[in-house]
Amino acid sequence: MTDFMPYNEDQELDNNTSDNTHFRDILEQRMSRRSLIKKTASGAAALALASSLSACSDDDEDTNVTPPTSKEEPNTKPETLTFKAVDKNLNDIVTVPEGYQATVLYALGDSINPSYSNWNADADVPSGPSFQFRSGDCHDGMSYFGLSTKTGRYDENASDHGLLVLNHEYINQTFLHPKGATKKDGRRPEDEVIREVNAHGVSVVHIKKNAETQAVEIVKSSPFNRRITASTVMDFAGPVAGSPLLHTAFSPAGRQTRGTQNNCGNGYTPWGTYLTAEENFIGYFQRSGTDQYSARSEAEKIALKRYGLGLEISYQTEKNADGSVKRDAKNNIIYILDADGKKIPERDEQDRIVYLNKSSRYGWETAEAGFESQDMYDRWAANVTKESATQDYRNAPNTFGWIVEIDPFDSRSNPVKRTALGRFAHEDCRASRAIEGQKFAFYMGDDSRGEYIYKFVSDATWDPKDVNGGYRAGDKYMNSGKFYVAKFNASGTGEWIELAYGKNGLTETNAIYPFSSQADVLTFARLAADAVGATKMDRPEWVAVNPENGEVYVTLTNNSNRGSSYATDPANPRNYTDPEGGKGNVNGHIIRFKEENTAATSFEWDIYLFGAEASMDPTINLSNLSDANDFSSPDGMWFDPRGVLWIQTDDGAYTDVTNCMMLAALPGQVGDGGVVKTVGDQSTIAGAQVTDKNLRRFLVGPKECEITGVTMTPDYKAIFINVQHPGEDSKSFDAPSSHWPATQTDMNNKTVRPRSATVVITRKDGKAIAG
Ligand code: FEO
Ligand code: CA
Ligand code: CA
Repeated sequence: MTDFMPYNEDQELDNNTSDNTHFRDILEQRMSRRSLIKKTASGAAALALASSLSACSDDDEDTNVTPPTSKEEPNTKPETLTFKAVDKNLNDIVTVPEGYQATVLYALGDSINPSYSNWNADADVPSGPSFQFRSGDCHDGMSYFGLSTKTGRYDENASDHGLLVLNHEYINQTFLHPKGATKKDGRRPEDEVIREVNAHGVSVVHIKKNAETQAVEIVKSSPFNRRITASTVMDFAGPVAGSPLLHTAFSPAGRQTRGTQNNCGNGYTPWGTYLTAEENFIGYFQRSGTDQYSARSEAEKIALKRYGLGLEISYQTEKNADGSVKRDAKNNIIYILDADGKKIPERDEQDRIVYLNKSSRYGWETAEAGFESQDMYDRWAANVTKESATQDYRNAPNTFGWIVEIDPFDSRSNPVKRTALGRFAHEDCRASRAIEGQKFAFYMGDDSRGEYIYKFVSDATWDPKDVNGGYRAGDKYMNSGKFYVAKFNASGTGEWIELAYGKNGLTETNAIYPFSSQADVLTFARLAADAVGATKMDRPEWVAVNPENGEVYVTLTNNSNRGSSYATDPANPRNYTDPEGGKGNVNGHIIRFKEENTAATSFEWDIYLFGAEASMDPTINLSNLSDANDFSSPDGMWFDPRGVLWIQTDDGAYTDVTNCMMLAALPGQVGDGGVVKTVGDQSTIAGAQVTDKNLRRFLVGPKECEITGVTMTPDYKAIFINVQHPGEDSKSFDAPSSHWPATQTDMNNKTVRPRSATVVITRKDGKAIAG
């Protein structure tokens, strides 16, 4: 066992003497950013950052604070990209630039507990319960947290030890089970369901890096290692906690739920906690056709429909012997079978409409309990089955779709769902820069076609003493504040419209939904955003905040319906077809905006980058992409603290030419381009065109994968990415179309099944990545 113990509150109560250490950590953090500020920040941003330094009594750059990284390589942004661009390719490996190496660190089924060996993909699939101690599937958002080996707490500057925290968004059933997913008599086997539930959620993995070789390995015996799954107990905090909307049989008071799922993008806080985003949560719930006839209120039905649990009407009719539709004496069509094929008893005319069951994605609600309690499975069926919401799971879908805060250093407390940040298909959650005395903004996208961009602004202003404040700091900055949605104007300006009960028409008399509380507004944020006329975007995915100037970037991955269901507009300007028949905004774009400060209610915007094939017409390839940097469907995105922007793709449009990829970028700023006309004569505001000096392909993934999740050690010598769902188009468990990661070391390996995995990339000369 190691010397490190996970944080617990008792420990902190004894830790007053460690305040000096904490202060030194903060000081180091400030000092290590000094060179960045000097070199790159300008104007108001520089002043704001400089003022945040004023609390440091020792203003001498040659202070006796020891920087954690080697002195010969300052942590500064490169002037230009110099690594050799990786060529587009369809190989079944992770390709990185010459002089770099990619090593698989943590693949599906790998163990984080010494009692379990790693999953050998050639051998038997491990049991469902053992996945509580194994890597989940479909690795996604990810952040590195430096670990102080002295205190066992967060140290922003530690590169030798750290906690890698990552999402497991969903599962590839084909490869997760011995022979794919099975069902018997309409029910899922319990072991499979347990494996699937446990393969969701989040991993906390203690890693260490060799300062000489930069080799990274998992500290398997570390007590920090932990899995959070779709059944881990979580608390609610913020305005919706305790609301009747969250009442369930599990938590009649509406203060807790079990699990987090479909964890897609992520974020992290300056106080050292992880934020995981619950994206396509709604598909995990079943709803029966009869639920429409239940005690559901009209408001509930509106909300269920808007979030994707509305029920479809069936028009099955009874037939006469000659095949004609049977009619009753009044010439009404006689129905109609319900979804189970049973005839519905005579009712009044209205009841002749039959609603079809909505099935859940994985059928977890069908499992028959043996190992677990039946309640663990029943909770995935969102139906009125009892007299009150405190007795059934009609409200279960309301307990998902939130931003969840996880303190990786505190394994004793429950993760916290932060309801003040609204409920929708959360893709990502990025905090604004930590500037002493300023409010935080958290920027968030709702990844569905035509959905919105949101921000939450804290009431509290940043106090660096809250570093390592854990969930209590989260309570301070994330429970109380203002919640907004973005509206983009044609002129290059935009506004944040506040979503608050009683404001902007969000009242009981609203035509879209009868809002009766702030809990209503937050839980049904999409309806509130509809009501105030927010701008419908091309699938907002990840958000990144430029550390130099605070500008906010949002990937808009693509939208096949732009130009059909959604008219083009300046912020979502392209509608075209590609050679493979893609329609609408085929290749996606990255929009960005700047605000006076984090609490601003207006902004200026432009489009930093347009995805395209290099050979496309200049009215489509507006950023002038070349073979060194053309890409499609931006999704994952992160500014490293130096100011290098990392862009990742989850694509289906350019995959005839290349697998998904990651690019490095050195962007300019809002307004560095100008007004342009795109295909169809739609005008927009484009950023400056790029060159291969400031946008370059860094990596290409294996077959049929998505590249997602990106983080680095603070010395910039190791970068971590996730390969999600390699071989996802495989028809069967025994016919994989990718064998990665086995192919990473043996390209002739043509038998094993593919696995999602975390990859660490280092330089063979041990220097800084893209440095
Ligand atoms: Fe999970 Fe929107 O990607
Ligand atoms: Ca994504
Ligand atoms: Ca995506």
